[in-house]
Amino acid sequence: MNILVTAAEITPFAKAGGLADVVASLSKEWSLLGHNVIVVIPKYGMIDLTLYSITPTNIIIEVPMGYWKEYARLWKGKIPGSDVDVYFLESADYFDRRGIYGDREGYTDNHKRFTFLSRAAFEVAKALNFKPDILHAHDYHTSLALAFLKIFYKYDPLFSKTAGVYTIHNMGYQGQYLPSTILPLMGVNTRDFYAGSWYEHDGIFNSMKVGIMFADKVTAVSPTYAKEIRWTSLGEGMQPYLNSKGGDVIGILNGTDYTEWNPELDDLIYKQYTQNDLETKEHNKQLFLKEHCPQQKTLSYDVPLVGMVARLTKQKGIDVLEQILESYLYAGVFRFAVLGSGEKRFEDYFRYLERKYSDRVIVHLGYNNALSHKIIAASDFLMMPSLYEPCGLTQMYALKYGTVPIVRSTGGLSDTVLEYNRNTSQGTGFLFYGYNAHDLGLTVNRALSVYKTHPHWNIIRTNGINADFSASRSAEEYIKAFQWALEKV
Ligand code: ADP
Ligand code: GLC
Repeated sequence: MNILVTAAEITPFAKAGGLADVVASLSKEWSLLGHNVIVVIPKYGMIDLTLYSITPTNIIIEVPMGYWKEYARLWKGKIPGSDVDVYFLESADYFDRRGIYGDREGYTDNHKRFTFLSRAAFEVAKALNFKPDILHAHDYHTSLALAFLKIFYKYDPLFSKTAGVYTIHNMGYQGQYLPSTILPLMGVNTRDFYAGSWYEHDGIFNSMKVGIMFADKVTAVSPTYAKEIRWTSLGEGMQPYLNSKGGDVIGILNGTDYTEWNPELDDLIYKQYTQNDLETKEHNKQLFLKEHCPQQKTLSYDVPLVGMVARLTKQKGIDVLEQILESYLYAGVFRFAVLGSGEKRFEDYFRYLERKYSDRVIVHLGYNNALSHKIIAASDFLMMPSLYEPCGLTQMYALKYGTVPIVRSTGGLSDTVLEYNRNTSQGTGFLFYGYNAHDLGLTVNRALSVYKTHPHWNIIRTNGINADFSASRSAEEYIKAFQWALEKV
C-alpha cells in the first residue's frame, strides 16, 4: 500500500507528546511490512537539521489557501533507523518558530498553519507523483485533510481511489474557529456552514468534527477510549457524530517502539538490564538519586521512588494527586521524581514540593528525552492518575522497564494495565476508578504493600516486562482498517 501520513508531530524531529511517537513507530512498522510510506510535517524552527541529516530539495510546492496560493520548499530526511521518507515544509511565515503549537494559549494563527499543512500534504504527493491508497491524518491539526480529499482531490486521478483515515489521539483539543476566518482559507463557501453541517458544532467551526465526518474510517488510540468517546462525556460533544458513523469508528491500541524503549538496549539510562537482572535496575535508581538528589542520604535507598513523566495538564490527574502527595512525602514513605512542563499552577506546585522536601522530591520542568528514560528506568512506580487518557504510552514504557504503574482506570490505561492479584500472581500494576483522592490513596497503599514483598515484587515487575505492546501489532491492525476503508472508495 502507498500511505501518505500527515501530522503536527513526529519523533524524533518534533515532539510534544505521545502523538509524535505513534506517528513515527507506525510509519516504521508499515515500511518494514513492505508498504510505501511518506510523512509530511512542518519544518519547525527547532528541528535539528544537522543532527538528522535533513537536506533541502529543489521542489517548491504551491498550496492553495482560499483565493491565493502560498509556497513551501520541501526538505527531506528519514526517520532514523528506517527507510521512511519525511518531507518537511519550509515556510517562514508559518513554521519557522521554536514551538509546535505555541505557548500555553497556542499561536494565534494556528488555524492558518494547520490548514496549510493539511492542504500541503496533497501537493507534496502531487510533486512526487505519489499515488496514495491511504491518506492518514492525526488529530485536529491535520483533520481538514479529510475534507480536502473529498471536496477537491477526489477529482484528481492521483487521489480518486484514496481512502481517508482519521485517528483521534485526544478529544480534549478540537480546533474551534470562527467560520468566517477558516472557511475562506479552506476554499469552502461560508454558505456551506450552517447548523448541522459537517463543519459546525455548537455554532462554531469544529476541526475535529470535520475529520470525523469526512473520514472513511475513524480510529481512536485504544479500544476503551473508542467506547468512551462514543458513550460518555469524554466525547466532548462529538458523541452523536461518532455514532452516526456506525461501525466506521474503531479502537486500535497504540504500540511502543521497543528499539527506543527497552532496558536491554537503552543507552540513555545509567546501566542496561534484563528481567533476570533487576538488581541492575536498583543501581539505576541509586545512580539517579546520587546525580539528581544529593540530599538523599537522609532517607535510605530502600524507600520507593515514584516517578512521573507527563505534560502537566489537567488531563494528567495532577489535581487529584495534589490532595494526597504531600502527606506521603512528609512521612518519608516514598521519594517522588517528576519531569514535565505545562500549566503554571502545576509547575508552581511541584516547585513548592521540591523546595520543601529537597531530600525526597526531584523536579525537572521542561522537556528532556534522556531524562525521561532515566526516570522511567530508575523509578519503582510510575504515577499516572489521569482524568482521561486516550491511550498513554508512558505506562507501556514503564512496564517494559519493570516500573510498576499506578494508574486510573480510563482509556488506554485500562487496556494496558492489569490489577495485580496476590492469589493468582497475575497482573502488572494498580488501578483506581473514581477520580478522587480517597480512591487514589487506597491504591497507592495497595501498591506500597507489594513493594519488596517477596515473591510478589519480582513477579509483578516480571509480568510487566513480559507484557507485549509492540508497535508491529498496532501497525498490522491499522493495515486491516485501511483495507476496510478502501472498500468504501
Ligand atoms: P500524551 O501524549 O498525552 O502526552 P503519552 O503517555 O501518550 O501522553 O505520551 C507522552 C510521551 O511524551 C512519552 O513518550 C513521554 O515520555 C513523553 N514526555 C512527556 N513529557 C515529557 C518531558 N517533559 N520530557 C521528555 N519526554 C516527555
Ligand atoms: C494523546 C493522548 C495519549 C496518547 C497519545 C498518543 O496525546 O493524550 O493518551 O497516548 O496521544 O496516541
